[in-house]
Amino acid sequence: MQEKLQNLKQDALNLLNDVANLVQLEEWENKFLGRKSGELTNLMKGLKDLSVEVKKIVGQVANEVKQTLETAVIKKRQQLVVADFQKSINQEKVDISEPSLLANNLGHFHPNTLVQKNLEELFSSMGFLILDGPELESEYFNFESLNIPESHPARDMHDTFYIKDHKNWVLRTHTSPVQVRALQKYGAPLRAVVPGRCFRNESTDAAHEHTFYQLEGLVVDKDISISNLIGVMKELLRGVFGREVEVRLRPGFFPFVEPGFELDMKCLVCGGKGCGACKHSGWIETLPCGLIHPKVLEFGGLNPKEWSGFAFGLGLTRLVMQKYAIEDIRNLLGGDLRFLKQF
Ligand code: PHE
Repeated sequence: MQEKLQNLKQDALNLLNDVANLVQLEEWENKFLGRKSGELTNLMKGLKDLSVEVKKIVGQVANEVKQTLETAVIKKRQQLVVADFQKSINQEKVDISEPSLLANNLGHFHPNTLVQKNLEELFSSMGFLILDGPELESEYFNFESLNIPESHPARDMHDTFYIKDHKNWVLRTHTSPVQVRALQKYGAPLRAVVPGRCFRNESTDAAHEHTFYQLEGLVVDKDISISNLIGVMKELLRGVFGREVEVRLRPGFFPFVEPGFELDMKCLVCGGKGCGACKHSGWIETLPCGLIHPKVLEFGGLNPKEWSGFAFGLGLTRLVMQKYAIEDIRNLLGGDLRFLKQF
């Protein structure tokens, strides 16, 4: 048997020399080292019939043969891989006089992404985390944890996309569910913004889409007040429009903030005198916001006697439209290159 083993080793090594590519190498491996019916495996099966002393000696030889072959195969594989690589480099030709296929076809960021990146930079510089949340959201995070009662119209089947056969799941109707998710995950104090895609069952027209983007913001800390909220909102608008913007607050109702507001900014087109852009009111409705409702803080695992905060929900899509004077929201997701190439 020792002789057989030595012969097998020699045969195998000889044949390995002739192996010219990785496919042949695999065949070789199966033939000699294959676990089920490789020649070495078959020979080693005979070990069990030998006496204990002989088995000890032959066993050692068998192991030595196995190791030699295994090492040889590793070396060979390295050689083949390096040779393949060399060959592909040699074949590669670069004609530097050939006109570039890319030059005129390079893509660029979508207008939505441009504004989003701009806002992310601004908020990062103010120490905010940039967070993400799931687009397919549980009813619990989308509604319940935000103090939105069963009777709220947003819970209506016709206003929200529910998932067939999974009644507790919805396509999120806003980025606000990430408020509670973030508080549960990071605790307080916390400063974060959450840009993201949201969905509502709208019939589409120039001003409405079933899919749009928001940027949620929240700040939770000790003794947060409305003036903190106003300060951050003014900084936000200054960052977007590149100049000081005057704002005003009107009461607004959202179950997850108390008090809740609609923040308007003075129309930049007419400076507040009244024009077509602001429907002659001098003000443009810009972002809903408010102080976080104590129940939401509780859902986030915080004690509302100890912590307070504000939140805002910027309509990112609407802001993009204002910034680039886009009249029809449907252009943004339409994928029409004539539109997209303008940015
Ligand atoms: N989530 C609300 C909406 O989509 C906006 C909002 C966010 C309001 C945060 C107040 C605070 O309408």
